[in-house]
Amino acid sequence: MTRLLIHDLRQVATPSGRAAPLRGPELDRVDVLEDAYVLLEDGAISDVGLMRQLGPLDDDVDELDGRGRCAVPGLVDCHTHAAFAGDRVDEFALRAGGATYEELHAAGGGILATVRATRAAGADGIADAVARHRDSMFRAGTTTFEAKSGYGLDRETELASLRAIRHAGGVPTWLGAHAVPPEFGDADAYLDFALAEVLPEAARVAEAADVFLERGAFDATQARRYLETCTAAGLALRMHGDQFTEAGAIPLAVELGARSVDHLEATSEAGIRAIAGSGVSAVLLPASALFLGRPMPPARALVDAGAAVALATDFNPGSAFTESLPLVCSLACTQLVLTPSEALAACTVNAAHVLGRADRKGRIAPGYDADLLLLDVPDWRYLAYHLGGDLGIDPIVGGRRALP
Ligand code: NIG
Ligand code: FE
Repeated sequence: MTRLLIHDLRQVATPSGRAAPLRGPELDRVDVLEDAYVLLEDGAISDVGLMRQLGPLDDDVDELDGRGRCAVPGLVDCHTHAAFAGDRVDEFALRAGGATYEELHAAGGGILATVRATRAAGADGIADAVARHRDSMFRAGTTTFEAKSGYGLDRETELASLRAIRHAGGVPTWLGAHAVPPEFGDADAYLDFALAEVLPEAARVAEAADVFLERGAFDATQARRYLETCTAAGLALRMHGDQFTEAGAIPLAVELGARSVDHLEATSEAGIRAIAGSGVSAVLLPASALFLGRPMPPARALVDAGAAVALATDFNPGSAFTESLPLVCSLACTQLVLTPSEALAACTVNAAHVLGRADRKGRIAPGYDADLLLLDVPDWRYLAYHLGGDLGIDPIVGGRRALP
């Protein structure tokens, strides 16, 4: 048995209770223990308490001095596109000069530019890229990450992407319906291919399927066909919806029992009510709205209506080139009218719920996996407060320090 005591922590902050997902006022409840310790045993958290109540220790317990740092749960990024090669820095410069994301996409750039780079990288290049991206996410405090394929759009590259994600320790999602690749004339012909030729193997590697339901990508009829076929193959369902236009994502997600609709920048009052009254989570991606200069999603209204709200980076080279959930927490507090406590719960417990892992991930409490961050800051809320700042993140994953 390996046991590690992290002692002399200034604060241990964790979403309250054990329920998931957290909705409404529950999202705002964070327990903070001052001058505390955490005991880890064989990769799980076995005890959390106050230093003054710490009893005598057995000889076989290793110790890590918390040095007055603050502990929060390891962050859970439930929406990334980390399986990409290359970059889109030229496109970024064009957008900075006034071109729009949709114009670049329509001109064969955008997602399809990354498809070309990812196909050219081959399986080894993709594996290297995913491992590098995972390490960058670790340094930013993400200890559990989901990543999507969707920059291959051919059999070989989609499957290589999913395998690379799994190999890197991520939760793989098959985004087989991200864009229509150039070798197919239309979306229906591409879906015929993807569902017949890629899905059977993708369903063995991935946990969920995702579709980009949007003008210029896939419409509601095509999204329904893709998702129904994927659910029959055993995959959980996710959707990119209401990013630019409201095109039926929420009603479809509710009907099919999807885990989430992600983006929601264009969601109306009726959409807010519909998702709030359902089991579908609302995954908000404010870094993407910021990066594209788009309106922010209606986060406050979603939380107040009782929706299960999660936050994620959307890390990708085109619309959200950031690995940082702390930055997303800052955006949540400055742009989405969420509190630091709500932001923390949204990228820990509620994000873990989206990934079907809320029983093990997202809290510092006995029985949860020993994934936590030691932050070299005077108050845990610096996580959101220090905009783009150095938090001195020391991630512990599975009971071990993840960085040298
Ligand atoms: O979530 N919306 C579609 N997909 C990604 C963007 C991917 C890209 O631009 O490469 C997103 O924003
Ligand atoms: Fe995305």
